[in-house]
Amino acid sequence: MNTKNLSFILNDVEINTKVNPSLPLLDYIRKEKHLTGTKEVCKEGDCGACAVLFGEVIDDELKYKTITSCIYPIGNCNGKHIVTIEGINKQELLLHQKAFVDENASQCGFCTPGFIMSFTCYLLNNQHFNLDDAINSIAGNICRCTGYHSIERAMKTVLDQLKTDGQIDKINNLIDRNIIPEYFKEIKKGLINLSLPKQTIPDKSAIFIGGGSDLFVQKPEDLLEEEVYLITERKLNYIRESNSIIKIGSGTTFEEIKQSELLNKYFPTIKKDIDLIASLPVRNAATVGGNLSNASPIGDITIILLALNADLTLSDGEKERNLPLREFYLDYKELNKQKIEFIKEVSFHIPQKKFYFSFEKVSKRTYLDIASVNSAMLIEVDDNKIISASISAGGVAPIPKLLDKTNDFLNEKEISIDTIDEALQIARSEISPISDVRGSADYKRLLLNQLIKSHFLKLFPHKIFESQLI
Ligand SMILES: Cc1cc2nc3c(=O)[nH]c(=O)nc-3n(C[C@H](O)[C@H](O)[C@H](O)COP(=O)(O)OP(=O)(O)OC[C@H]3O[C@@H](n4cnc5c(N)ncnc54)[C@H](O)[C@@H]3O)c2cc1C
Ligand code: FES
Ligand code: FES
Repeated sequence: MNTKNLSFILNDVEINTKVNPSLPLLDYIRKEKHLTGTKEVCKEGDCGACAVLFGEVIDDELKYKTITSCIYPIGNCNGKHIVTIEGINKQELLLHQKAFVDENASQCGFCTPGFIMSFTCYLLNNQHFNLDDAINSIAGNICRCTGYHSIERAMKTVLDQLKTDGQIDKINNLIDRNIIPEYFKEIKKGLINLSLPKQTIPDKSAIFIGGGSDLFVQKPEDLLEEEVYLITERKLNYIRESNSIIKIGSGTTFEEIKQSELLNKYFPTIKKDIDLIASLPVRNAATVGGNLSNASPIGDITIILLALNADLTLSDGEKERNLPLREFYLDYKELNKQKIEFIKEVSFHIPQKKFYFSFEKVSKRTYLDIASVNSAMLIEVDDNKIISASISAGGVAPIPKLLDKTNDFLNEKEISIDTIDEALQIARSEISPISDVRGSADYKRLLLNQLIKSHFLKLFPHKIFESQLI
């Protein structure tokens, strides 16, 4: 059986163990450690009942995020602090646990550990609190019986009590305020002192695992039998700029993209755009490389990067080669890559002329849902003239698609209703949607039509008016 040496801290205990790296963290916590406070409900990353804290030292600072442990490989926990509800419980109730009791924010209690962990993480991560952000932090947690108002009231009570804090020494402050237990003071030192194994080279037959958020929903049992290679070993989570080229490591998570100051500088809507993708705990795990490689025709990050005309760097651990992302997809789920190659990095040029970017997605629910159709547009303009346009579309072909003919047509055109009308006709001619659970082929055609209109309406509100496009 495939095993790996792991060292991490689980609550207040250092663990050094040999374990199958593909074991879902939740199974390890519940079945091997008998810490049953963390609940199992959907086992697909949808409900947040299994949420735990995931702490790591980044730039000499101990930082926490929540992950859904049911679809997270234990192998990715090397060198980390994993905190379950038992790891924050004390003899008496914590401040926020007491608020949940006082406000009747729990009935059957099955979801409650997940809510408490997500809220604890919000309190750990922020110096200044506000209720809207706190409520956003529990967006990945579902309660089936209590209803959310009492949970929100409980959160408000806690934030009101902590309002004046804004302390620099976060950990000590939260210990003093009865949010986390004393032992958190020692965790940073403990993590730094863990001895971690060296990086390895992928085996020829290995399956790559990024954040596991796709693989552990699709085939968790098979993974236990397979040789796997953890992308986290290579520390590929970075976003850098050099010579007007942005480089994003393939291990970068969706949430790291959302929070990146560099990306927010060039793409001011990126926070809102990424909010449309999955939930916070899934975004904390799901990686860019995983989104590109699972080759879903509706992968959101894929559609964004296609419109940005990104290039890939593929590696087999020793040799590297570069490839435009548009050439990566050969057919449905068929990739232009050898089995041993993994995506190391994705990069794109920042346009030198004035540019605008838009991402649109339609799904059955606005948030926490996969797209029926999605689309992104990068457009460079000089006054009223389009210098270049790059529109991508998902859910309308077997692969995530760049609308080449539409893009070619738009080059050098004036931004006008006539131009958009003609572009829409060309776009319709180069897609081939199929009917499935996310909508009929006709519906998807209509959706793409509307999303392209929406790009122009949003980006050029003084040139294009809604009434002209109906
Ligand atoms: C609740 C939930 C909601 C979701 N919502 C969305 C959504 O709104 N939008 C969306 O686009 N997706 C969504 N997803 C799907 C999923 O999160 C993404 O596809 C994610 O990007 C997968 O990344 P990962 O790192 O977790 O991939 P993994 O599951 O680790 O891997 C996915 C595939 O990529 C391969 N792989 C991983 N990393 C690499 C690499 N560096 N090089 C080569 N191959 C690699 C793996 O072998 C596997 O084939 C959702 C998933 C869940 C569970
Ligand atoms: S059990 Fe539902 S997200 Fe993990
Ligand atoms: S209290 Fe029962 S599911 Fe939330």
